[in-house]
Amino acid sequence: MPIIAPSVLSSDFLNLGRDVAMINESEADWFHVDVMDGVFVPNISFGFPVIKAIRKAAAKPLDVHLMIVEPDRFLSQFKDAGAAHLSVHFEACPHLHRTVQRIRELGMKAGVAINPHTSVSLLADIITDVDIVLVMSVNPGFGGQKFISQTIHKITALRKMIAESGSPALIEIDGGVDLNNASQLISAGADALVAGQTVFSSPDPRTTISQLKKA
Ligand code: DX5
Ligand code: ZN
Repeated sequence: MPIIAPSVLSSDFLNLGRDVAMINESEADWFHVDVMDGVFVPNISFGFPVIKAIRKAAAKPLDVHLMIVEPDRFLSQFKDAGAAHLSVHFEACPHLHRTVQRIRELGMKAGVAINPHTSVSLLADIITDVDIVLVMSVNPGFGGQKFISQTIHKITALRKMIAESGSPALIEIDGGVDLNNASQLISAGADALVAGQTVFSSPDPRTTISQLKKA
């Protein structure tokens, strides 16, 4: 069964406690937490106080996706805020190997996220050092965007790279995941599905999470 990671970005911030409780009670596996700085992406989301508040109520790991420049400046603060997984963008890290080593030294799972235009082949020399590859299937910055279907072949290519290298990495797909494309993404080799709008615009989010789990 796929790992399901609802994206808190699409939750109702006026009722964040209620939405965190819903995820706790659902079949979801992780909380996907999107951090945006207004520089790497054209949007600003939230930072440490909000993540710490989620951590207090969350009964499942926080899967933190950093869409920020110079993430190295903040790695230990994300650990202190409660991140279990920390994914940085390939495009934002000139010394990616150092960054992922540091994330692991801090006791978190290390993830590398790639934008839709970034080739999987660029991960060949880092794949054995990462725990998660986060494949963006929209241009990062906003929830509720349309799935870019050309990204499916990247899952297939990554699956092959992971098998051939013996890497422990999980493949997580993020952006525009819905009940129509989920099973195709699992078949292509995705281990984890992020879902924002699909979960939070549903009249029954818990059931939608169960449906994604069965995809
Ligand atoms: C986009 C974020 C995603 C987003 C997914 O920049 O990284 O995690 O919240 O939302 P949906 O599922 O609505 O595309
Ligand atoms: Zn994300």
